[in-house]
Amino acid sequence: MMSPELVLGLTLGLGTAAALSIAAVVSSQKDSAEHQAVLQHGLAPITVLGAPSTDAMVDIGQGLYAANCASCHGAELEGEPNWRQPGPNGQMPAPPHDASGHTWHHPDQDLIAIIKHGIGAVQNGRHSRMPSFDEKLGDAQIEAILAFIKSSWPDHARRLQQNVTREAGSNL
Ligand code: HEC
Repeated sequence: MMSPELVLGLTLGLGTAAALSIAAVVSSQKDSAEHQAVLQHGLAPITVLGAPSTDAMVDIGQGLYAANCASCHGAELEGEPNWRQPGPNGQMPAPPHDASGHTWHHPDQDLIAIIKHGIGAVQNGRHSRMPSFDEKLGDAQIEAILAFIKSSWPDHARRLQQNVTREAGSNL
């Protein structure tokens, strides 16, 4: 007959061993699930001009976007209807900023120039309703808006746009 202390000790020991092995299985499942998620859905981190953006920047950018840009580019970044066709005045409507548009084809340097100085900054003599925000928004605010816009982009768009930005800027 085992002493009660021994039985208790064995039970505890077995219990601990079982708990440890369950923990090991759970954690290896978790590791591999996380690993798979990164492989399948992994999103490149958001950067502006090569510098990583914080969640706080994205939040600030969301508010600034709603106040300054959403009236033309859409509350959900969806752009104006029929944005691929020139309007009756011959000018292009506001394109989406989500991945259905072409904002992610352009380097940060061009996007910042357009936001500061209007479309004419990158295409001489082009007339559009895109305002110039140079007087209204500081660099950090413009970068926060870009961080928010980029938070809507899937991985391939983020990576491609990071590459065009790197290629466009010799100092990045
Ligand atoms: C009054 C309407 C209006 C507002 C407000 C506005 N935009 Fe625009 N934006 C336009 C139009 C129209 C175009 C397209 C011009 C063209 O292609 O000729 C444009 C183009 C752009 C482009 C170039 C996009 C691309 O994919 O080529 C960027 C970047 C942009 N806007 C950013 C912004 C940001 C950021 C804000 C807010 C800070 C903003 N815009 C506010 C009308 C507006």
